[in-house]
Amino acid sequence: MSLTIEDMAVFCKKKGFVYPNSEIYGGLAGFFDFGPLGVELKNNIKNNWWKYNVQNRPDIVGIDGSIIANRKIWQASGHENNFVDLILTCSKCSNKLRADHLIEEELKITTDDLNPEDIKKLIKEKNLKCPKCKSQFEDPKSFNLMFATNIGSVENEDSLAYLRPETAQLIFSNFKNVVDTSRLKLPFGIAQIGKAFRNEISPRSFLFRCREFEQMEIEFFVHPKKLNTCTCIKEVYDYKVSIYSAEMQKKKQKEKVMTIKEALDKKIIKTGWLAYWLAKQHRWLTYLSIDEKNLRLRQHGKEELAHYSSDCWDLEYKFPFGWEEVQGIADRSNFDLEQHQKHSKKDLSIFDEESKEKIIPYVAAEPSFGLERVFLVFMFEAYNDDKKRGNVVLRLDPQLAPVKVGIFPLVKNKENVLSKAEEVYEMLRKNLICNLDISGSVGRRYARADEQGTPYCCTIDFESIENNDVTIRNRDDTKQVRVKIDDLKEILEKLIKKDIAFKDLK
Ligand code: GAP
Repeated sequence: MSLTIEDMAVFCKKKGFVYPNSEIYGGLAGFFDFGPLGVELKNNIKNNWWKYNVQNRPDIVGIDGSIIANRKIWQASGHENNFVDLILTCSKCSNKLRADHLIEEELKITTDDLNPEDIKKLIKEKNLKCPKCKSQFEDPKSFNLMFATNIGSVENEDSLAYLRPETAQLIFSNFKNVVDTSRLKLPFGIAQIGKAFRNEISPRSFLFRCREFEQMEIEFFVHPKKLNTCTCIKEVYDYKVSIYSAEMQKKKQKEKVMTIKEALDKKIIKTGWLAYWLAKQHRWLTYLSIDEKNLRLRQHGKEELAHYSSDCWDLEYKFPFGWEEVQGIADRSNFDLEQHQKHSKKDLSIFDEESKEKIIPYVAAEPSFGLERVFLVFMFEAYNDDKKRGNVVLRLDPQLAPVKVGIFPLVKNKENVLSKAEEVYEMLRKNLICNLDISGSVGRRYARADEQGTPYCCTIDFESIENNDVTIRNRDDTKQVRVKIDDLKEILEKLIKKDIAFKDLK
């Protein structure tokens, strides 16, 4: 039986990855706190994504915008009027539900392609009732998902503000500042990692749909006439991805593995830059040990597309509860910059040196990851209930693992063995997160390390004193190899970066 999301929530709490928020006061739905292992894993994901997308590229810079911003930003972006879900309230028990979720659960169909009018019609036609008390619903109402707050001591229209529902708008509102201070030339991107808040009507599936979460987003700007002039496309031409186009979904076909070149040649993906970013974000996950068989790119149908977008894809992962979106990658056109220019009355155009014209750049791709969802992807992919060992082995990529090295003195009551272990710990912990574990049998200590995802454990015994060496044990196959303490730090660092493989150690 596969691991459910509830099992994962229990495991995450038990091991100190994620706790339900405010638990001692009965909890708070849709909010979570990250524990000692969770915060390390989360930071490792963020740092890795930042390095891959920002620090290792000459054409992308980052910002860190504030969570609360001038309300006019959300008026210009359309969030104040349009960032709504349809909510159903039971006329008898007052149970509140998202209308699209009820349809999905009761009729076992996807609502991705349905607009609010279709949803209202279906609920009436199929006479859907409250799942709790079987009574009729009141007429569906629109509910804005932004959390409202007030700035200052007076609560009125003028002091009204919102917690940001996406990080993207801070990129758009700072666009001119970034261009003026960073000497970027088109094509270029601006990235951001930060908190987002959505007052979800029915938060569910543990971290999958929460009310407070983090996003890792890029807005990649190009000249509006150069959506297909992707200067990096050759890098990803032969990269293979599983494609689930809008047409395949309509014809009830299965997804198909093809190269990026094939998807572009067949005009399945509309533009070169969008294809490039789909491949790059997919590649980031496979580089961190996610099996490509568990990933697919699903194209949005016409009804799902925002009116300003001509193409949008979800990078989906095969969770135990089905294929679900982990990242949205949209062609966002120049809608946002145009809107902010109109509402702020500030010129947001830039001079393109190549074409020698002033233009409002076009967002050819907006890769937007939900950090909590990626966190779940890494946890589900890594989780392995190893019956032979009798414990869970969390096969996290070593780069992401919260603790990199376990250090175990084999005989803890012998002073010299313990002090050798402490010496190794002191030497390693300056560069790598280590855990010096002296309690319980060595088997118990290995099991604890496996469950935390620690990729390498070093044992120190009597021989270590004589030969100045340790045994490294590899989490994934339990194989062991003896190495000199003088070489240990370098070997471990190379193993973690995957510059060498464990099997190559002699
Ligand atoms: N700026 C584009 C944007 O915000 P989105 O599809 O609404 O697009 C992007 O959100 C990503 O944020 C999603 O793919 C998902 O991973 C994550 N996300 C959205 N709502 C979420 C929620 N309630 N809980 C956790 N993650 C969420």
